Amino acid sequence: MKNGTIWYDNHGETIQAHGGAIIQYNEVYYWYGEHKGKPNIPGKQAVPLIGVSCYSSPDLIHWEYEGLALSAVPNDPDSPLAPDHICERPKVLYCEKTDTFVMWMHLDNPARTYAGAGVAIADDPRGPFTFLSSMKPNRLDSRDMTLFQDSDGTVYLVHAANYNRTLYFSSLTDDYTALTGLTFPVLIDQYREAPAIMKKDGTYYMISSGCTGWSPNSALYAEADYLIGPWKLIDNPCEGPNYRQTFGGQSTYIFYVNDQPHLMLDHWNAEHLQDSGYSILPITFDHNLLTVRWQNEFMPLASVNRNEEIRK
Ligand code: GAL
Repeated sequence: MKNGTIWYDNHGETIQAHGGAIIQYNEVYYWYGEHKGKPNIPGKQAVPLIGVSCYSSPDLIHWEYEGLALSAVPNDPDSPLAPDHICERPKVLYCEKTDTFVMWMHLDNPARTYAGAGVAIADDPRGPFTFLSSMKPNRLDSRDMTLFQDSDGTVYLVHAANYNRTLYFSSLTDDYTALTGLTFPVLIDQYREAPAIMKKDGTYYMISSGCTGWSPNSALYAEADYLIGPWKLIDNPCEGPNYRQTFGGQSTYIFYVNDQPHLMLDHWNAEHLQDSGYSILPITFDHNLLTVRWQNEFMPLASVNRNEEIRK
C-alpha cells in the first residue's frame, strides 16, 4: 500500500474510509471512515452524505468492504444524517461493560454552523449502528474530534470548540454513550484540529493539524504529564519529503499494530473528495522526541519487526 495514494479494497474498489480510525477486535482490524464515494457537488468541496463505512482485514493490507456501518437518512430533511448534512471523523471503541461498539462523529448542518457531535451504537463491529443522539457536548462546539481512552479506562471526546480556537476533553459515561459533564480546555487559542492522541510511559502525546480546511499544513505535536495539562506544543513530528505539509496529509487517528503506534493520515483531494488517499506511518521516539518518518509504503509487518529489533 503506497502511502499518499488512493487505496483499494479486495474487489479493486477505492477504499472510502476518510477521516477514520482503525480498531482491533478478536484478531480482526476494522476501519471506519467517511464514505465519500460520489462526485463532488458541482462547485463545492463536498459530496452528498453517504454515511460511515466499515472495512475488515486480518492483516491491515487486504480490506473487505463490510458496507455502511451508519447510513445517511435520505427521506427526512430534518435528520442530522440528511444527505446535505455533514458527518465526519467517525471514531469507534468497543465498550466491554455493555459489550457494544460505540461510534462518535462530528455532525453538522450544510453551512457547518451547528458544530455538534453524534453517537451511535452496535452489537456487531460491522454494524448496523443505531443512531442515538446529536448534541453540543457540554454546550460547546464540536468540529474535528477524536476519542481517547486513558489507561484508567476513562474515555474522552476530544473536540475542537470556540470556532476551532481551543480543543476540549469531555469525559464520557462508562457506557461511552453520553457526557459526564466533566470538560476542560487544552491548547487554548492555538487553533489546532484533527487531534490524534496516545500515551507512552506516563506521558500523553497529541498530534494535530492547523486549520486550513482540506489543504495540508504543518502538523505539530504536544505533550503533557496530565490530560488536564499543561499541554506544551513541542515540534513538527514529521521527517521526510514535504514534512512541512505533513507529507500532503492530515492526521486522523493513532492505532497500534502489536505495541507499535501508527498514525493514520488523510490526503484530501478537495476537488474530487472520493479520490482522497491515505498514509499509515509508524510513530517512533528519537531522543524522546515523537517522530513520524515518511515511508513510501505501509508495511505493517515490517514496522512490527523493526519495533522488535528496537526492543532487543
Ligand atoms: C478540515 C477538517 C476536515 C473537514 C474539512 C472541511 O479542516 O479537518 O475534517 O472538516 O476541514 O473543510
